[in-house]
Amino acid sequence: MKVIHTLAELRQALDGERHTAFVPTMGNLHDGHLSLIELARQRGGPVVASIFVNRLQFAPHEDFDTYPRTLERDCELLAPAGCDIVFAPSERELYPEPQGYKVHPPSELADILEGHFRPGFFTGVCTVVLKLFHCVQPRTAVFGKKDYQQLMVTRRMVDQLALPIEIVGGETGRAADGLALSSRNGYLSAAERAEAVQLSAALRRIEAAVSAGRRDWPALESEAMNALAARGWKPDYVAIRRRRDLGAPADGEPLVVLAAARLGTTRLIDNLELPG
Ligand code: PAF
Repeated sequence: MKVIHTLAELRQALDGERHTAFVPTMGNLHDGHLSLIELARQRGGPVVASIFVNRLQFAPHEDFDTYPRTLERDCELLAPAGCDIVFAPSERELYPEPQGYKVHPPSELADILEGHFRPGFFTGVCTVVLKLFHCVQPRTAVFGKKDYQQLMVTRRMVDQLALPIEIVGGETGRAADGLALSSRNGYLSAAERAEAVQLSAALRRIEAAVSAGRRDWPALESEAMNALAARGWKPDYVAIRRRRDLGAPADGEPLVVLAAARLGTTRLIDNLELPG
């Protein structure tokens, strides 16, 4: 496995390659990321993972400075997982000058849910993802469903800009108790880690209620928010939406429930596709 830090070296390594499968990450990898690498590996071409903590998608009060940077350990995990190239550019390499050209995704997709609570987040994500796509020129790119809205916003960007890239969504990796794997789980104290499972448990209760025939979406959402708040969480949202565009639920359309909530100082997100 090659570890490459510059765009020039990356272009040289991938010269003429048309079947690259790409997994963009911010590093601090866990089994969830490795399952995305496995999906990329199954495409048959070279697998490139990027590791880049993208300043553009962090608000000033967020954890850009403290976000764990663990390149050596990440590479130790990526090599046996079947990654061929790790692209780990410095900030100066990817943003040699302030990034004035940006991708502003449409408000109805990007200013709701995560975008409402993290203004500008999806502009930062789309800008770096498009730039990484230009660097890697992949045939396929794999994103985790854990960041469901990010997957949807990226897919739409690729469609609308007619990029010749197939976007693949990988299932969310979970710990044995159901907690969605996330680099930010490392911020949790032991007590918070034990409590953290309540977020996925709240989504499971909604799934069970929907399976039992409930369709009173606002009530289901507020029950879950109240249950979390009663345990000391600060929920941003629990929202039942159409999978297709995260719009309001409509009869007969596949649905997903998405949630974001703060436990202590750590903000966790999760989602679950609901039964039809
Ligand atoms: O999901 C992530 O890790 C990031 O948002 C991504 C897609 C690598 C862009 O920085």
